Amino acid sequence: MTFTPPEHIPKQPVFESAALTGASGGTSSPPSLRDAPYQRTVNRGSLAIALALRHIGLSARHEVLVPAYHCGAMIEPILAEGGLPVFYRIHADTRVDLEDMARRLTPATRVVLVPHFFGFLQPLKAVRAWCDAHDLILIEDCAHAFFGETEGCPVGTQGDYAIGSNWKFFPLNEGGCLVSFRHPLNTIETRAPSLSEELKAVVNTLEYASRYGRLGSFNPWLKKAFRFKDAVVQGLRSGSSAPSPERTEDPPRPEDFVPAPFHSGFDPDRTTVSGSRWARWVTEKSALSFIAEKRRENYQALLEATLPLPGCRPLFPHLPAGVVPHVFPLVMDQPMAVFGKLKFAGVPVIRFGEFLWDGMDKGTCPVSEDYSRRIFQFPCHQSLKKHELDWMIQVLSATLAGTGSLPPPPDQPAP
Ligand SMILES: Cc1ncc(COP(=O)(O)O)c(C=O)c1O
Repeated sequence: MTFTPPEHIPKQPVFESAALTGASGGTSSPPSLRDAPYQRTVNRGSLAIALALRHIGLSARHEVLVPAYHCGAMIEPILAEGGLPVFYRIHADTRVDLEDMARRLTPATRVVLVPHFFGFLQPLKAVRAWCDAHDLILIEDCAHAFFGETEGCPVGTQGDYAIGSNWKFFPLNEGGCLVSFRHPLNTIETRAPSLSEELKAVVNTLEYASRYGRLGSFNPWLKKAFRFKDAVVQGLRSGSSAPSPERTEDPPRPEDFVPAPFHSGFDPDRTTVSGSRWARWVTEKSALSFIAEKRRENYQALLEATLPLPGCRPLFPHLPAGVVPHVFPLVMDQPMAVFGKLKFAGVPVIRFGEFLWDGMDKGTCPVSEDYSRRIFQFPCHQSLKKHELDWMIQVLSATLAGTGSLPPPPDQPAP
């Protein structure tokens, strides 16, 4: 039986007009992909990878070096553009294993893709120098790192290209970017999204915000409007499809939890469709320093709360200056013993790299295979309210320490 429990707190940033005060950026804004002189918007980060490969002129003979710790959204664009992914190892701290990368270099290697896992920026100077020495194109995958700097290098500046996943950092349901500090991107031809796609972008954002009660006095009205919309969609669907199988009367249990099939969201037909105006506007108007400070604060709170817990350890026990985390990654001793329990309790557990590419040989990178199974990520985004963060910490503590009962979902009175 498949059962996907509702998430009691938002997994990703939620739209609130209060967060849109950063049009001018301000002196305290952290470095970000918004600073790049060359910019193109797309619908998702995976499409930005495809667009970069197209700009490079990747051909079927070309190999792209990618980390063995990856998600489908990094591999599908390579295959769609006719390239061949070749997997390299990472170190336990998620830095690129440059020696292993060098062993995998062939005359067909053309591109190197390096992500900043979970927002913790990789030192890239050595990788940049190695790429220059071998005439390779470096794509800095900033899907987890819209902000920050390391080794004195602001994010995105070491790659020939950098790709971003705006929806992971801004209150959007879609949005990505291809940027470059080194190469003009004006030869890329894209078309604007249709009016219905533009509208969908706004509606989806508001619907998500309304689900988590973020739109103040507008919320009751919007809730009604979205309920009506759902009823209409449901009615249309049930009119056109076969009846669903009988539902069991038994309430679902944690052990019934089956993750939904993996879908990366990559749609090759949208590679040359530019991002919505809505996504561009929200990205431009958002207060960057607020996003950065709040994420760091929430990360620190999760770090302090989980350090003493049994059965887990934070992947990054220190939060260096210059890092704006995407999520809080926690390495679990017994991942399968707690995954269903956390999901069932309504915690939005994220699992980057849960499904490694079928075509990668077993044993390519023991660290990646281990992390694929054992690292869970928890939201630390700027839209989490204190009581939501506290609730998630209480559920984590009760589940991992095996003590006490689970707290009631936030915004619901205690029994
Ligand atoms: C490291 C990394 N790169 C690229 C992507 C693709 O980004 P998007 O989901 O915006 O397509 C993801 C997606 O999660 C990712 O984790």
